Amino acid sequence: MDQRNQQRRPKVIIDCDPGHDDAVAIILAHAHAEVLGITTVSGNAPLLSTTQNALSVLELIDEDTPVHSGAAAPLKGWEKGEAIHAEGVHGVGGLGGVELDAPSRSVASSDAVQFLLTATRAHTDVWIVAIGPLTNVALALQKDPTFSERIAGISIMGGSATVGNATRVAEFNIWADPEAADVVFRSGARLKMCGLNLTHQLTTTDELVEQLREMNSKNSIFVAALFEFMHGRMEELIGRRRSALHDPCAVIAITHPELIVSEARAVAIELDGTHTRGMTVVDERVTRRRDPANVEVAYSIDADRAMSLVVESVRN
Ligand code: BDR
Ligand code: CA
Repeated sequence: MDQRNQQRRPKVIIDCDPGHDDAVAIILAHAHAEVLGITTVSGNAPLLSTTQNALSVLELIDEDTPVHSGAAAPLKGWEKGEAIHAEGVHGVGGLGGVELDAPSRSVASSDAVQFLLTATRAHTDVWIVAIGPLTNVALALQKDPTFSERIAGISIMGGSATVGNATRVAEFNIWADPEAADVVFRSGARLKMCGLNLTHQLTTTDELVEQLREMNSKNSIFVAALFEFMHGRMEELIGRRRSALHDPCAVIAITHPELIVSEARAVAIELDGTHTRGMTVVDERVTRRRDPANVEVAYSIDADRAMSLVVESVRN
């Protein structure tokens, strides 16, 4: 065991689809949490790629956290049962713009759901940090409904209390598997939601890329390349060279909750709407007649301190 204070480090399992911001979240989580394992899911890229990417990132940062691959397609599937990916944002392999060695290590298993169930029986107070489509987490809840009671909770990067990104109103992780999100949001588990309304407050800039390059560590150079690729993509997509650092917010919600202000809200997943499938419908009514809350919705983050955490996590 290293010198870091294990006492104060929350136990987490990261369910992810790396993905540029997933990679940063993995690095950040290893700096501040006890990461029991990583489970991978189809999302930004096909499952094979997201799994290879998770292994490669762990190899880069010299961590031997076990990786368990999971769902290759959403619960219901879209037309022709295909999974949908975000190659237009993250590149075909999920980590466009960076050259990582193929990992020399391999997965601990290809049964992410079983790992989620077993690890949370062996350990108490585990947070699931879910930063991809929610397929694996939903399957775990369906297989064992007591899963929701024995975990500390689920910290989700997904959804939005305002606009969407995959569609006008739907955020990518929820839109990629709305049925899975519906299972999770109705599960009764403690849920924290870092949606786009929050994550757009934590943005990377070209100055930050320079700062990371000057830091000149193996990990800072890697993360600088991730950000630079994403700035190119954003320049094409929105006309600005800056990018929201979505997934690390769901890590910070657990490791540094004091940096985030949340409010309890009722949130439902829209499954049917012609224009709204995959939307997180948040009860924002100002009257006392709001529906009973099931989610801690994050509304603001101390972006300066949050970004300092990200930068410090790649110093070595
Ligand atoms: C989310 O979708 C993915 O593209 C990112 O990795 C993040 O988890 C943002 O909508
Ligand atoms: Ca992600």
